[in-house]
Amino acid sequence: MIDLHCHLLPGIDDGPETMEEALALAAHAVRSGIVRAVVTPHVHVGRYDNELVSIAADLARFRLELERRNIPLELGLGGEVRLGEEIISMVMEERIPYLGERDGYRIMLLELPHSHVPVGSDKFVAWLLKRNIRPMIAHPERNKGVHQDIDKITPFVSMGCWLQITAGSVAGNFGEPSRKRAVQLLERGWVTILASDAHNLEHRPPELEPGRRAAAAIVGEEGSWKLVRDTPLAIVDGGK
Ligand SMILES: [Fe+2]
Repeated sequence: MIDLHCHLLPGIDDGPETMEEALALAAHAVRSGIVRAVVTPHVHVGRYDNELVSIAADLARFRLELERRNIPLELGLGGEVRLGEEIISMVMEERIPYLGERDGYRIMLLELPHSHVPVGSDKFVAWLLKRNIRPMIAHPERNKGVHQDIDKITPFVSMGCWLQITAGSVAGNFGEPSRKRAVQLLERGWVTILASDAHNLEHRPPELEPGRRAAAAIVGEEGSWKLVRDTPLAIVDGGK
């Protein structure tokens, strides 16, 4: 399986704090059947000031450690980009990491605030799409606004955004409102991929299989593998 949303790099966001914790996460990912992961540290101006160049340096260090410990997890570079006007200049200056490329669009993992869907988000999305950047909205099923009204996310899907659902949400680890929305989005056929959004071993571990199994009950076995293997692979290899 291929995980396109996880916080594995140590000490640069709310993921693992130390290299040892980070290595334990990577080892757990491998044990749970993940062979490839795109690391997606928060890119959140003023809070987690990560950007393409700094993440690349951190990733290079982490790859060396993985090699030294013989942990066979193949890593790619990405980021989870927090919606905000500060991002516009970062896009223009090519300081944003993308997940990969597909059909001529670079794929940006875009995070909305957890509490609501901000007014004007659609304008930002339109601006990105005009530049051949396709937002993949990170875990909309966990957004409080979407809990209240699933159709808060509909305009984004209509515009061409993709949706990443957290595997743990489908398995029920994020509570009933998130599980319910995840199931509904799967039923509508709007889910592009499942990802772990791993941060730690305790509450948000790097696992996809429990979510895939739960999703298989809705979209079928073949459909579930698309969500955790075929589509993620097409995105990371799309530009090559
Ligand atoms: Fe995340």
